Amino acid sequence: MTLPRILLAATLPLLGIGIAVARGKKAVEADVPVPVPAVVTEPAPVPPAEPAPSLFPAGLPVVIDSLPPGVASLSAQSCNACHWTAHDTWETSAHAVAWADPLYQAALRSAGNSTTCLSCHLPVAAQHDRLANGYIDGDLSRPRLEANASFDATLMSEGVSCVACHVREGKVLGTYASDNAPHPLVKSEELSSSALCATCHQLSWPEADRPFYDTYGEWEASAYAKAGVDCLDCHMAPVAGVSQPGVKGTVNAHVSATGLDRALTTLVTLPGASLQRGQAVPVTVTLLNSGAGHSVPTGNPFKKYAIEVVLLDAAGKELAPPQGFSLSRTVDSTPPWRTTHDDRLRAGDKREWTGTLTPNAKGLAGAGALVVRARRDASVTELRRIPIDIR
Ligand code: HEC
Ligand code: HEC
Ligand code: HEC
Ligand code: HEC
Ligand code: HEC
Repeated sequence: MTLPRILLAATLPLLGIGIAVARGKKAVEADVPVPVPAVVTEPAPVPPAEPAPSLFPAGLPVVIDSLPPGVASLSAQSCNACHWTAHDTWETSAHAVAWADPLYQAALRSAGNSTTCLSCHLPVAAQHDRLANGYIDGDLSRPRLEANASFDATLMSEGVSCVACHVREGKVLGTYASDNAPHPLVKSEELSSSALCATCHQLSWPEADRPFYDTYGEWEASAYAKAGVDCLDCHMAPVAGVSQPGVKGTVNAHVSATGLDRALTTLVTLPGASLQRGQAVPVTVTLLNSGAGHSVPTGNPFKKYAIEVVLLDAAGKELAPPQGFSLSRTVDSTPPWRTTHDDRLRAGDKREWTGTLTPNAKGLAGAGALVVRARRDASVTELRRIPIDIR
């Protein structure tokens, strides 16, 4: 057994003599017995780390034409054999349905199946049955399309799949390099950065006043970027209590939508905890974007939250029509989609709304509630529920 290095380091300075030994002076100069330190072998020189291939050297779509040895196919299912937590969290995320999503498919059709809509939703060249070989008169809306000999229908169905972020030049890109993985593994700084996400979550059209997708830009301008809290910290949190056989690092969610209840703090001001049917009550609702590292909503400008303030009676029936406000952005209906209106909540910002609710005199008395909720298309998130005694 070698002498623990920590012990050696701690002992040497105490023995002036030891230091002399260490400096190469003759040990015989000492008149006390000299403890002979165990020989410390220098660690074998570490070969310089292999540089990781860059993720999107020529933009999107990226050409991935060699399969890493040890991996059965480019499909996510091949990685599932060993990395099932990454696989299962990915499978239920928007990334896995980036192509199959009916909402996207409908929008794609109404955009005339424009090739400009494909790159981020199908980031790998093999996911395209046809590829643009130049543009007629340099016009990006008139691509010269040719059949793609390397088209892979399975990979197409997987949208933003594992290989889009992890496989380049026959190697797997990870958070560290290792010779012990069943596939070549190199460390990529680029992988673990918000810049990876920006590849698809930031988009500017030429001549537009503002980026069309601006999630990265919003984050970059926020206090989170300054504090070093990046996209991954909030959207790829480690999965508690899970480890992966043979993998040294943490296992992270791949990639989760965190939800509005995490993004917003909802404060309510009321004159009291009870109210009289038929009598008007002033209500103030303050929304703070205390938890999203970008605007709420962020991303594509067709997202809108309707914030509703509603009084419910003891039976859960609405005692007054919902009132409220919206968080949204609107853009022109044609390129370059100039922004016409934007009242979304930026990171760290707050919005205060004051209104008057008059509970229906015929409503049911008893244990009612004031509810603040957010509606987006068909989904409703309850942000705050205050119990109220209805008299
Ligand atoms: C047969 C099992 C197996 C298959 C299949 C496999 N891997 Fe791995 N992978 C491993 C093991 C084991 C390690 C850990 C090696 C180590 O720590 O030395 C690893 C490491 C990794 C890492 C680095 C871990 C980190 O924390 O950064 C990534 C990323 C990765 N694999 C991605 C993939 C992807 C993507 C696929 C599919 C294309 C895949 N792997 C297929 C077993 C597998
Ligand atoms: C190759 C392109 C691409 C990259 C890289 C990418 N995304 Fe996405 N992301 C998409 C697309 C496309 C969608 C929307 C899919 C849909 O719903 O149609 C999406 C959706 C999302 C959503 C919505 C999740 C949900 O379930 O509603 C989140 C959150 C997200 N991405 C975060 C990230 C983060 C964080 C990163 C960086 C680690 C990242 N993305 C990298 C293309 C990408
Ligand atoms: C401080 C934590 C935090 C950081 C940092 C952060 N996000 Fe988010 N993100 C959230 C929360 C919370 C939501 C939920 C808000 C919502 O549903 O509208 C969200 C929502 C999203 C959505 C929309 C999902 C949807 O269903 O509409 C996307 C896309 C997204 N984030 C991508 C990113 C990207 C890309 C970055 C880095 C540039 C990033 N986020 C940084 C917390 C964060
Ligand atoms: C949008 C890009 C993206 C996609 C798609 C993606 N990953 Fe990752 N993955 C990452 C990033 C970024 C990290 C590094 C997280 C960090 O720095 O901690 C990562 C980390 C990993 C790790 C290391 C340990 C862990 O679980 O976090 C494994 C293994 C892995 N991914 C496997 C997969 C597999 C398998 C798939 C497909 C089912 C997949 N990834 C899809 C971006 C992606
Ligand atoms: C720069 C990359 C990029 C391009 C190009 C792109 N998208 Fe997206 N798309 C995304 C990302 C990222 C998301 C998800 C998060 C968000 O809403 O910000 C998304 C989400 C969507 C959604 C919402 C899906 C849902 O379930 O909410 C639709 C619809 C959509 N895109 C349609 C289109 C159409 C149509 C085009 C072409 C005009 C297009 N996209 C071009 C990156 C892109």
